[in-house]
Amino acid sequence: MRIAIARETLPGEARVALVPDALGALINAGYEVALQPGAGHGAMMTDEAYQHAGAVVDEAAMAQADLVVSVQPLPPDALQEIPRGAATISFFPANQRLREVLLRRDHGVTTFAMEYVPRISRAQSMDALSSQSLVAGYRGAIVAAGRLRQFFPLNMTAAGTLPPAQVVVLGAGVAGLQAIATCRRLGAVVKGYDVRAAAAEEIRSMGAIAIDLELPTLEGAGGYAREMTEDRAALQQERLAPYIAAADALITTAAVPGRRAPVLVTRAMVEQMKMGSVVVDLAAESGGNVEGVVAGKVVQMGQAQLWGGSNVPSQMPAPASRLYAHNVSAVIKLMTADQQFAPDFTDEIVSAMCVTHAGEVVHQQTRTLLTETGGTIGE
Ligand code: NAI
Repeated sequence: MRIAIARETLPGEARVALVPDALGALINAGYEVALQPGAGHGAMMTDEAYQHAGAVVDEAAMAQADLVVSVQPLPPDALQEIPRGAATISFFPANQRLREVLLRRDHGVTTFAMEYVPRISRAQSMDALSSQSLVAGYRGAIVAAGRLRQFFPLNMTAAGTLPPAQVVVLGAGVAGLQAIATCRRLGAVVKGYDVRAAAAEEIRSMGAIAIDLELPTLEGAGGYAREMTEDRAALQQERLAPYIAAADALITTAAVPGRRAPVLVTRAMVEQMKMGSVVVDLAAESGGNVEGVVAGKVVQMGQAQLWGGSNVPSQMPAPASRLYAHNVSAVIKLMTADQQFAPDFTDEIVSAMCVTHAGEVVHQQTRTLLTETGGTIGE
């Protein structure tokens, strides 16, 4: 059984799906591993390091693969390179890629999507959304600290005392808590806010102050947040405004699964911020928590600079790849039996991740979406 590690083709994607350290366990489990030359370069991993770990370096790695692993979905033309019936493991947001879902179905590809790993304890080692959010949260804090032309920590010197920076973090999921922890380690005074009931305690456990807006919590299914009503959004914005006006740095990380990111901060709120303040929006790619944010750009808004995150985990490609590789290896291990890649489709994790298999679209939500579009999507 051969695993191919694909070279990423999306501009700006520096991560790689498997790192040399992850290969030993897969080779011991009976796999051959082949790497497209240079696939690890963005993440600072050389072809030689992969060879030392037991991989073959081969431009045509995908041609004989039973399983192709990547971070981003393989581009449609690469599907022609892989054998019919082969499997792929990558991020694959099927609802945004309906045409590609049909191409994969028609090419007989078995598609496993990392974002559909269910959030159950048995699947924690496979949870790439969490591992990559952790990287994004850290990076967001470092960007805020780097762009703010002030100290984060309190400095008491013979030349006088410099007060610590005031940071506000909105959304306290995996990314937000990591941003809070990182800002705290750098010595800033941090305040955090989230709509979930459990979040206040988690914020406090990181040494930050939990903002209480005296609004009802918004708990949805599976421990996630629910979408806000318009009235609630307006009230939340109004009550958050003084906290944001007082902040030197604001980091936003709020998301609602399957929806556009909620707008937590209006342009008018940013315009109340002090001269030189910094806003980092980690939700910019899914619409943004801050009105007017542009993913991948820094825009001036009032007296603040607004940094819109774009593929933020890829900005720390080596650690992000190590964590992602661990997630992918755990998925492969789950799908291995008797030294063969043999996914058990009755397994809850396997079936949740599977988008296409044996010429069918098997992912229920994607099937529903395809039905809703009346079959016109493939035309
Ligand atoms: P996420 O990336 O979907 O959202 C980030 C945060 O934004 C969440 O904490 C959410 O409550 C918050 N948010 C949404 N709307 C908001 C609003 N209007 N104002 C302020 N904050 C808002 O969340 P993530 O990081 O994926 O984690 C969400 C939950 O899932 C957490 O309870 C986390 O502990 C849990 N989780 C469970 C895992 C497991 O069981 N294996 C793994 C990872 C996370």
